[in-house]
Amino acid sequence: MKNIFRFLFLSTIMSIVLCGCMPNNGNDSTSNNYTVSKYDKQIRELMSKMTIEEKIGQLNMVGGDWDVTGPYIRADFKDDIKAGKIGAMLNCYTVDYTTELINLSVDSSRLGIPLLLGYDVIHGHRTIFPIPLAEACTWDLDLMEKSARIAAIEASAEGLHWTFAPMVDICRDPRWGRVMEGAGEDPWYGSLIAKAKVKGFQGNDLSDDNTILACVKHVAAYGAAEAGRDYNTVNLSLRSLYETYLPPYHAAVEAGVGSAMTAFNEINGIPCTANKWLWEDLFRKQWGFNGFVLTDYTATNEMIKHGVAANLYQASVLAVVAGVDMDMVGQGFLKHLNRAVENGDVSENQVDKAVYRILKAKYELGLFDDSYKYCDKEREKSEIMTPEHILFSREVARKSMVLLKNKNQLLPFSKEIKSIAVIGPLADNKFDMIGGWSAAGDRNTKPVTLLEGVKNKLGDHATVLYALGTKFNTTSTAGFSEAIRVAEQADVVLLALGESNDMSAEAKSRSVIDLPGNQNLLADEIIKANKNTAVILMNGRPLTIQHLDDVAPAILETWFAGTEAGNAIADVVFGDYNPAGKLTMSFPRNVGQIPIYYNHKNTGRPYNPDDSWTSHYIDVDNSPLYPFGYGLSYTDFVYSELKLDKKEITENQTLNVSVIVTNTGNYDGGEVVQLYIHDLVGSVTRPVKELAGFEKIFLKKGESVTVNFTIGVDDLAFYRKDMSFGTEPGEYDIYIGGNSDAKNSIRFLLN
Ligand code: GLC
Repeated sequence: MKNIFRFLFLSTIMSIVLCGCMPNNGNDSTSNNYTVSKYDKQIRELMSKMTIEEKIGQLNMVGGDWDVTGPYIRADFKDDIKAGKIGAMLNCYTVDYTTELINLSVDSSRLGIPLLLGYDVIHGHRTIFPIPLAEACTWDLDLMEKSARIAAIEASAEGLHWTFAPMVDICRDPRWGRVMEGAGEDPWYGSLIAKAKVKGFQGNDLSDDNTILACVKHVAAYGAAEAGRDYNTVNLSLRSLYETYLPPYHAAVEAGVGSAMTAFNEINGIPCTANKWLWEDLFRKQWGFNGFVLTDYTATNEMIKHGVAANLYQASVLAVVAGVDMDMVGQGFLKHLNRAVENGDVSENQVDKAVYRILKAKYELGLFDDSYKYCDKEREKSEIMTPEHILFSREVARKSMVLLKNKNQLLPFSKEIKSIAVIGPLADNKFDMIGGWSAAGDRNTKPVTLLEGVKNKLGDHATVLYALGTKFNTTSTAGFSEAIRVAEQADVVLLALGESNDMSAEAKSRSVIDLPGNQNLLADEIIKANKNTAVILMNGRPLTIQHLDDVAPAILETWFAGTEAGNAIADVVFGDYNPAGKLTMSFPRNVGQIPIYYNHKNTGRPYNPDDSWTSHYIDVDNSPLYPFGYGLSYTDFVYSELKLDKKEITENQTLNVSVIVTNTGNYDGGEVVQLYIHDLVGSVTRPVKELAGFEKIFLKKGESVTVNFTIGVDDLAFYRKDMSFGTEPGEYDIYIGGNSDAKNSIRFLLN
């Protein structure tokens, strides 16, 4: 036991130390141990009746048997529910199943406290939207809020109260399989998406029937796993933690997120599940978070392997003392907290705080007013996969696609073509279209394949040929000859290449992120057989596709586009929608370049092609293959007349920045006008660019528009040398363009 006290003592000291030098970004909220709820009276009255066992039962979450999202621990949960030993469950849905579970908890337990039912509704529940990394490429916050809203409608119609989303982990390493779940590499844009998603899931009133509790995850900096290897150590400076990884979690808290999930990794040598500084000092005291904290799947138990607890008793004590309220699946709290309270290692007050927060969520959801409010067979029949939801998922999919290359305007194909060949492992493939973390999405029958989408688009106007060509992970070229044959016969070719859905998401890191198998070889053969070949890329992460970029005339990044994938791709390929998506994560040329991201530091020897003694590789171009913010259109946009309304401002003034954008091409189209700021000299080194604004515009061909941005002191604040959050006088450059490689800049002075 002594080492647990030593650890507790050390982690408390660590909290004080960290707290002492912790940045203060002015959002201190003087919340007490837990923010008093408007249901305070009912909660306290109920808690006064609860035994310590029943209190601890509320902190225990077990997994249902409808899905497995981690090392599965089967518990005989029906008896435990009746005995009040379970407060929440995950992976249970449909009205029939959830009605049974609610019935057990409300009608068969002593106090009738309803279960809280959660699930990973990450990018849709039954109607599946593009993976979040794709959706982020739409740069359309309203659209991302609406897709979360629809996901909440469908999830709540199937009996769910809670989703373990949004996942807002910033990541700069595409080897990490979970980049598919997030918004990419930019903290500012990731923060805007975090807010939109929380709003979409939780709506304006959690007690509505079709709103669900959101859960910001994974706190914190899970996306910084060393070498992109999932569950690996995170080793960060305090500064990069604050500048890069914390902002989206903070944004979710500011948006009122009702729960937060601990990350598997450590921060500063202390696992997030035992990190009191993270939960009590940062989340609750500084940020005023008044939701509840749950562990990730068996994360309590994993503190034994982390080496900070000798056994599950100690791990459970560490978690509760750190401010964690609910234990996902590991059963540590259920088995050990009672004894920990008896031993004085955990105070009953600490247990009470956790119980209070969880009961508060159940009251806010309206589960005490009507425990069966989410068990509505009529809603389940009428509000899931409606034509409107499906139509909207097609719109989201179209808008998430990024045109990476289009030499000689190969795309869009004319609808008057006589024949088309659709080739590749992702051409006639339903199973992979909805990607990973696809909740209750039916991946076997519902998704529209590319082949189906092309046939739907062309009807019987054209001959549509198909060949598999190759599989994902094979060296066999057995399918090549048939593929070459159909390519030779067709006017044009769509070559669908990429990853299978299970090559990304959790526990799916890749050490090589090339096109798997011999897909590059197939591409060479097909492009040789027919020069009118457009590659349709389907993948869950940026891939190293330098070879494809060298040989393919056109490449359309479609990610895993969801239920309507095939129809949405056909909309783009045949010109019914002009692609306007922009990448939110850099594509490296090879895996050796990683990490490569746009908002990097200049260093003392920034790359200079004329000076070998500068930061570069001798064997690869120093730039990414495609930078953050990049995406082509079927038309062209020209930026001109970048202007400021004043050359200098004080902290109390704002600056108006304007630029003229002209559509100089032959198609009407959308563009994401991006504004980046560079602070030339600071008390600490500053990124060469930081995204600080964007505007989605739509211009008819030949049309021009003046786009205006307002820059204020909030856009210039950062964590200064003493980690205080604020601005410093000096010169700043503003860049505006269609991606982070924008060269067009203008300078101003902050006095
Ligand atoms: C998983 C994931 C987490 C998910 C949880 C429940 O291990 O890390 O994102 O919400 O378990 O499925």
